Amino acid sequence: ASNQMWGGRFASGPAAVMEEINASIGFDRALYSQDIDGSIAHATMLAATGVISSADRDAIIDGLTTIRSEIEAGTFTFSRALEDIHLNIEARLTELIGPAGGRLHTARSRNDQVALDFRMWVRDELRRTEAALKALIGAFLGRAEEHARTVMPGFTHLQTAQPVTFGHHCMAYVEMFGRDLSRVRDALERLDECPLGAAALAGTGFPIDRQMTAEALGFSGPTRNSIDTVSDRDFALEFLSVASICATHLSRLAEEIVIWSTPQFGFVTLSDAFSTGSSIMPQKKNPDAAELVRAKTGRINGAFVALSTVMKGLPLAYSKDMQEDKEQLFDAARALDLALAAMTGMVADLKVDEKAMKKAAGAGYSIATDLADWLVRELGLPFREAHHVTGRAVALASERGVGLERLSLDDLRTIHDGITADVFSVLTVTRSVASRTSFGGTAPREVKKQIRHWRKRLEKM
Ligand code: ARG
Repeated sequence: ASNQMWGGRFASGPAAVMEEINASIGFDRALYSQDIDGSIAHATMLAATGVISSADRDAIIDGLTTIRSEIEAGTFTFSRALEDIHLNIEARLTELIGPAGGRLHTARSRNDQVALDFRMWVRDELRRTEAALKALIGAFLGRAEEHARTVMPGFTHLQTAQPVTFGHHCMAYVEMFGRDLSRVRDALERLDECPLGAAALAGTGFPIDRQMTAEALGFSGPTRNSIDTVSDRDFALEFLSVASICATHLSRLAEEIVIWSTPQFGFVTLSDAFSTGSSIMPQKKNPDAAELVRAKTGRINGAFVALSTVMKGLPLAYSKDMQEDKEQLFDAARALDLALAAMTGMVADLKVDEKAMKKAAGAGYSIATDLADWLVRELGLPFREAHHVTGRAVALASERGVGLERLSLDDLRTIHDGITADVFSVLTVTRSVASRTSFGGTAPREVKKQIRHWRKRLEKM
């Protein structure tokens, strides 16, 4: 039999494989709530503008309300022959209320309907992401405050570079996730236009009020071009790009947690709640949650590439290709929600070994720059020369198998005779971090300033 919703011109139904490739109900049922909200707003507006009667409007709203509870109770029968969530709901509406159900689709197309539903779903997800990012930033601010003075090695090339504080390192992630948060805001702002009323692509001759439906659905106004409206999925691409940048940050953090929690580093211990054991090696505590967060980035980045590949080369306006916009985005959203929540838990829970961090901070001649800076400041050497002198001191210390601070004054004076005992006062990791007072630097005082800045900023966000 031909399709009950659009089969007027068809003599026969679809091939089995056609039905299978065509149907989206398997995944777009996730849009049921947005679809019902959109239909209620549309029916309300149709009655207000005199396109349908208020009796029909009431019947439609009652029917849709019943359908919502059927879906939520799990008693709704989804039909693949009815393709998607829009037709499943509309068919059930007519079953429930009779011909009035058929009036709901006046001045509307599935093209503007799906653009609306999906946009509202993405809006909800962006709001979830916003809240999740705030929670993660909050967790980092707490750890940063607690560890504003905790010295750890800072790395470049994953080689010990200069001492920093763990608080400062935490605040680096606050900056990253703070940028993600502002990208979420931007995406929400651009998404804030209502597609409903674009109809199939050309608009409609019925006297609809697009401002009214836009307001009812929480948008600041209607979209401006009906052709663009039904062919635009930028809001989805923007969510996925925000998500994949954020996932990249999460993955870098996950990688650091994996490294820090190895016995070789021993900087942090993951709580039992965020690690697993091995079925054969009794001593193991594995950072599985961090590894999975690192891995989720793959599917999130993949979803962005998938959708941008679907959209590239599509002629205006709607093409069925666009039905492929949902599955991967839903999957990416779920992965992002999970990764953000798991990471927030891990950050709040991890135990920091301050001693191990401090010990590592002093290894690898991390205070060599402090010696060079002393030579510049106290002896007036040009930095290049100070760099060279310090390099020789490092070579000597390395030959002796000791740290720079363990060389004797005589040793140091063989390298440069201007050096005095005062130099030893700068050769500690604590002095090193305390001296980095430039704006945005690692000195505890500066880090605390940055924490205060972010606390205030977050309150306003
Ligand atoms: N299931 C479709 C989608 O997700 C709904 C829009 C279908 N419109 C159409 N003219 N076939 O994109």
